[in-house]
Amino acid sequence: MKRFRPYRKDQQTRDAYAEVSLKKEDLIYPYFIIEGEGKKKEVPSLEHVYHFTLDQLIQDMRECLDLGINKFLLFGVITYDLKTSDAQEAAKPDNLVSRAVSTLKQYFPEALIFTDVCLCGYTDHGHCGIIEKDKIKNDRTLPLLAEMALSHAQAGADYVAPSSMMDGQVKAIREHLDANGYTQTGIMGYSAKFASDFYGPFRDAGNSSPSFGDRKTYQMDYRVTDQALDEIRADIEEGADWTMVKPAHTYLDIIARAKTNSPEIPLAAYHVSGEYMMIKQGAKAGIFDEQLALREVLFSLKRAGADYIITYFAKQAANYFETIKL
Ligand code: PBG
Repeated sequence: MKRFRPYRKDQQTRDAYAEVSLKKEDLIYPYFIIEGEGKKKEVPSLEHVYHFTLDQLIQDMRECLDLGINKFLLFGVITYDLKTSDAQEAAKPDNLVSRAVSTLKQYFPEALIFTDVCLCGYTDHGHCGIIEKDKIKNDRTLPLLAEMALSHAQAGADYVAPSSMMDGQVKAIREHLDANGYTQTGIMGYSAKFASDFYGPFRDAGNSSPSFGDRKTYQMDYRVTDQALDEIRADIEEGADWTMVKPAHTYLDIIARAKTNSPEIPLAAYHVSGEYMMIKQGAKAGIFDEQLALREVLFSLKRAGADYIITYFAKQAANYFETIKL
């Protein structure tokens, strides 16, 4: 008989055999920015997630940095009247996200700032690309994404993160950044992003639901696996410095294969809005303890191979981690 129970006999022994660790530096915290001043409004679909005006965001970011979180992913949220079919607010000089980035970088040069680069929050139809005759036009969208990324880079973003799932978006952005002298700005590709029902609460937060149809012609079908690795490889070849699998909790197989395939490239897993709310609601329904369930999920993502985890739980987790052992 092989005895396994000695590995588990007490906490110290279990800790000694643990193969994965989780650090606060592994967490990336998403933020939603709105215009104005003095506002911090909870997003109805996403408990404890807020729409922040910049002044409020500065306060919150300071709290996060004090807690040990130093990576942030920014989304701009604009009002409907500013949205157009060509998403012109996304890249106009002095746009909301770029203004926020340059201020945040002045306050917190030690923070690593990622910006989401996608049109869905800026188009009046809510799709991630430019539309012609009801079709999302891939190649027409690329220059706009590149322009949006450049404006974030000029403001001081450390990484731009294209999430529109247009083919060639990483290459278009890399070339445009380089041509304008922003060779040091990195790219985190949302490389393997699946058309998921778990994005629902985010679309309320981002004010970015498609007004017709769905995203299945550009986001991946969740019945494929090898294609995810092809997407990741293509992003790396096009110049992505980091890659991503999204969603996370339901895509552990993809995370594991991605890490095995490209071990040298930092891999982020996006624990998305619906996955976040499942834990919140499950805990509320008394199914499990929120902290313990969260700990288990975050470790599962690390065990699968994620280097970094993008999660709405980041701040809360950093607080918990003071009380529960990582
Ligand atoms: C923008 C974008 C989405 C998410 C991140 N960037 C929404 C979508 O693709 O519909 C989802 C994040 C989440 O659910 O937490 N394209």
